[in-house]
Amino acid sequence: MRCPRCGVDNPAKNKFCGECGFPLKQPIDKGRVEMVKQEIPESLVKKILYVRDTIEKEHRDVSVVFADISGFTSISESLDPEELTELMNKCFRKLGRMVYRYEGIIDKFIGDCVMAIFGAPIAHEDDPERAVLACLDMQNAIEEINAGLDKSLKRLQIHSGINTGKVIAGKVGSDLQMEYTVMGDTVNVAQRLKDQAPPGSILVGPETYRRTKHAFDFMPLEPMRLKGKAAMVKPFEVIGKKWGSEFGLSIVHSDLIGRNQELSLLKQGYDDLIKGRSSILIIKGEIGVGKSRLLYEFRKYLTIYAPEGAIIYGRGFSYESAIPFKSILDSLHRFLIEENVSSREEDKKIIKEKLVALMEEEGVEVLPYLYKFFNIELTEAQKEKVRHLDSHSLQLQIFLAIATLLEKLSDKKPIIFIFDDIQWFDSASIELLNFLLPLIKKRRISFCLSYRLGDLSAITNLLKNIKDEYPDYTKEIPLKNLSPEDSMLLIENLMGKDVDEGLKRYIIEKSQGNPFFIEEIARNILESEAYKKGKGLTRKQIEIPGSIEAAVSSRIDGLNKEAKYLLKIASIIGRNFPETLLEELIKDRDIYQNINELEQTEILVRINKDNETYYAFRHPIFQEVTYHSILKSERVIYHKVIAETIEQKFTDRLEGISSILAHHYYYAGNTDKALSYSIKAGDEASALYANDEALLYYNQALEVATTEDV
Ligand SMILES: Nc1ncnc2c1ncn2[C@@H]1O[C@H](COP(=O)(O)OP(=O)(O)OP(=O)(O)O)[C@@H](O)[C@H]1O
Ligand SMILES: [Mg+2]
Repeated sequence: MRCPRCGVDNPAKNKFCGECGFPLKQPIDKGRVEMVKQEIPESLVKKILYVRDTIEKEHRDVSVVFADISGFTSISESLDPEELTELMNKCFRKLGRMVYRYEGIIDKFIGDCVMAIFGAPIAHEDDPERAVLACLDMQNAIEEINAGLDKSLKRLQIHSGINTGKVIAGKVGSDLQMEYTVMGDTVNVAQRLKDQAPPGSILVGPETYRRTKHAFDFMPLEPMRLKGKAAMVKPFEVIGKKWGSEFGLSIVHSDLIGRNQELSLLKQGYDDLIKGRSSILIIKGEIGVGKSRLLYEFRKYLTIYAPEGAIIYGRGFSYESAIPFKSILDSLHRFLIEENVSSREEDKKIIKEKLVALMEEEGVEVLPYLYKFFNIELTEAQKEKVRHLDSHSLQLQIFLAIATLLEKLSDKKPIIFIFDDIQWFDSASIELLNFLLPLIKKRRISFCLSYRLGDLSAITNLLKNIKDEYPDYTKEIPLKNLSPEDSMLLIENLMGKDVDEGLKRYIIEKSQGNPFFIEEIARNILESEAYKKGKGLTRKQIEIPGSIEAAVSSRIDGLNKEAKYLLKIASIIGRNFPETLLEELIKDRDIYQNINELEQTEILVRINKDNETYYAFRHPIFQEVTYHSILKSERVIYHKVIAETIEQKFTDRLEGISSILAHHYYYAGNTDKALSYSIKAGDEASALYANDEALLYYNQALEVATTEDV
């Protein structure tokens, strides 16, 4: 471990630094957590309170951050204790803010090191990205603090470690004072990475790297042996944000498959625009279905075949929806600057020149408002002009000024806005977008918008307005999962043509043709040691990739406590089940409202068959992720209850009852019953000459008979 005072590396077992005697093992500081908690923004408090009652011990996929500030000790020689405490409090409060900004939580302080968690209790699909962003922001925060320090003092520095993976998360300690924490190897590795990180650097583990490499530049480091780990770990050092990573798409892995029709609708929209017919094109679809990819292909086409147009591209981010105008401001900024210019001041200078040139003589009136929007310093005379405006009037003037800017620009060339993920636009940008829509009726300006199905509360009004006011201008392009044939092609593109047929079918079954799921499952398989060694994989060995798990968990975390409980029970029962079985299992609660919620959020689908209502998981992955989040010890109990309930009351109401019971008894640990039901299922199948199935059940019986433990 590196000594925070003198920087010398010490053997991990040392309690004190061998060089200067500084204590290396620091106590956990609870008071500091309480102080930093005061920085939690209201919106995050609400979200935590919302999930609070649903928190149980469970498996979660999280990113763990350890960030350590060094330099306080040497500063302490020049400051009196009170000043030092004040400085430290200021630092830690600032760091807390950087964590909360991305909806992570502070787990604990160990000396001058903060441990933060992203992904629990609130999950986001992009938690690894949030963790890296938080660490980069922490570095900036420390720089700001340094800038305010007396020149004679030594600079503070921060070094961090981030690791992503499975943990057991949940409440510890007494129930009254909720304390949330995570445990497991993932945490230990994050801490060790932090120990190895030189001052001023951020080291991440391989899974964090894999899930964020589309957004940041990294430098690979030599594999390291971390204390307590048998295998070597390959860390990566974060260099910074990747320029152009705002395209909402990781590296392109396969040629585009299908989507001819959708792409030609977009091209048609552009041809119409050239001819003077503006439109609003709306792409909508589930997570990972290919919205960003379609937009990427469209933009690629426009850059090559439509150089006469102005393409203004923007994207909503799940973690930036609280920054006013961020989404549209960034897109216009990028449009005006075109390439990365090194400093903010230079950027502003270029924007200013471009605005002046674009607006010409008669546009001078609106320049102050455009400067306000782009955060450019106003002249004294301009300041005078805007001074008397209240915030509402100022906003209106800014909106009008941007509309004027676009009108001017559209006189020169047709404009197409391409906005991806508008469900994550900040509310000011959505308002501005709404304000700009009427331009399509009089100018060569079109909008191509995409949004993800799910929580659409932020854009409900915008969508309604488009529907009500611009029906003749609007074209909706709903994106569906790939067909089995196209899925097959995608898998072959990703994994090679000679992939085992069974494996291909398995991926299609799991992913249901969702390209993101296909890519992630394929990558997981390709990277698994067994596959690399050519040993082949059994179905049981194939795990759900963390990225998919995170996407699913973030949906499940939005459910209320009862619905989440119901989903857990449902996931143990299986892919589909009769409503009456759920009723029987959850007797004392009103299940209908919760089933309704699960149906509304498109997690379950209702199926009516033979006068009975059944429910099925719309996506098998939702069942699997929910199932695996439940601790094994709990699952055993539920399997037992489910098996007994089915055995007592449902034997004549379910198809393939013997195999269902074999499954539940097997996982309930009742091998006798599991064995007899597996044989029975095999006998039943062979009586019907269903030989493949019969073989499956007999094999299952054989497996049960020879397995000691599940
Ligand atoms: N038709 C396709 N052919 C080949 N690859 C595809 C196709 N559609 C999507 N992909 C790939 O699948 C992955 C997920 O697609 P994409 O990011 O476009 O989904 P999305 O709908 O934008 O998801 P999100 O809701 O998360 O924004 C990407 O790596 C993309 O390149
Ligand atoms: Mg996308």
